[in-house]
Amino acid sequence: MRAITVRDRDAGVGGLTVTDMPYPRAAENDVIVRVHAAGFTPGELDWPGTWSDRPGRDRTPSIPGHELSGAVVELGYGTTGLTVGQRVFGPTDWARNGSLAEYTAVEARNLAPLAADIDHTVAAHLTTGQTILIHGAAGGVGSIAVQLAREVGARVIGTGRADDRDVALGLGAQIFLDLDADDLQHVGEVDVVFDVIGGDILKRSTELVRPGGTLVTIAMPPTVQPKDGRAIFFVVEPDRARLTDLAQRLRAGRLNPIVGAVRPLSETASAFARHRRTPGKTIIQVADEQGAQHS
Ligand SMILES: NC(=O)c1ccc[n+]([C@@H]2O[C@H](COP(=O)([O-])OP(=O)(O)OC[C@H]3O[C@@H](n4cnc5c(N)ncnc54)[C@H](OP(=O)(O)O)[C@@H]3O)[C@@H](O)[C@H]2O)c1
Repeated sequence: MRAITVRDRDAGVGGLTVTDMPYPRAAENDVIVRVHAAGFTPGELDWPGTWSDRPGRDRTPSIPGHELSGAVVELGYGTTGLTVGQRVFGPTDWARNGSLAEYTAVEARNLAPLAADIDHTVAAHLTTGQTILIHGAAGGVGSIAVQLAREVGARVIGTGRADDRDVALGLGAQIFLDLDADDLQHVGEVDVVFDVIGGDILKRSTELVRPGGTLVTIAMPPTVQPKDGRAIFFVVEPDRARLTDLAQRLRAGRLNPIVGAVRPLSETASAFARHRRTPGKTIIQVADEQGAQHS
């Protein structure tokens, strides 16, 4: 089967190549999914799980991409809850071969059923009265965070690059800050900071958290704490109930995942490498619903 693989950690995105890989084996409680659409995370080539399995053994050549939407084609021994032919979506394990391939093996518990009227390209994106500051508000994760925060009635301040302003405001952010030009300290105190950038932006944001407030970052373990608040490093966990909830919001028109670009599998390396990203998430279309491959 065709897949995108990496072998050399030092090669960066230049090491992403289209490779002929063996069809995956379904372990106990796995399903094999025929991938229709796949998502990846910028920076995943730096994650240890891209290069080693859970006991720490080299697992190259490895297949990156950990978000998928597709159809179940095979069940492993003991697998329950899903059936062959079912449309599904969800994340794959970080330390196993991922979704940038025609087929992938995933634990069934990672996946949720996908209703017939939700497009695979959109589903591959879903992989979660206070004031919340959301960094990277037009990006893959931030654009979903803005919408979920608005749904629970929060006042949302979004940040990003100047070009992201219209997208962030269109998603429901009440205020937008251009991190290259505006002064972050002008935001004033907020109840929650949601950070996807890390580094200096994360450090400067801790000062904005009001007493009792929370700083959540998904970018890196925080090295600084808000004075009278908490700092949390959040790492996503597969959760079928939450995925189902997201799919229901999508069907009800309450969530609008921004698909920035849809590219074929053969263009994965340039999609990873793109310096200036389009807003939202870039999706790799591996095959269409009829089974035709996209090269
Ligand atoms: N912990 C977890 O479970 C978890 C899960 C998913 C993702 N992540 C991590 O979260 C991060 C974001 O993921 P994503 O998929 O949302 O990425 P993304 O789609 O690239 O979104 C990040 C957004 O932030 C903007 N941005 C980054 N640095 C900036 C800066 N210095 N000033 C202004 N804007 C800036 C980006 O703009 P540009 O494109 O112009 O830079 C982009 O719009 C990644 O590091 C990823 O590894 C962690």
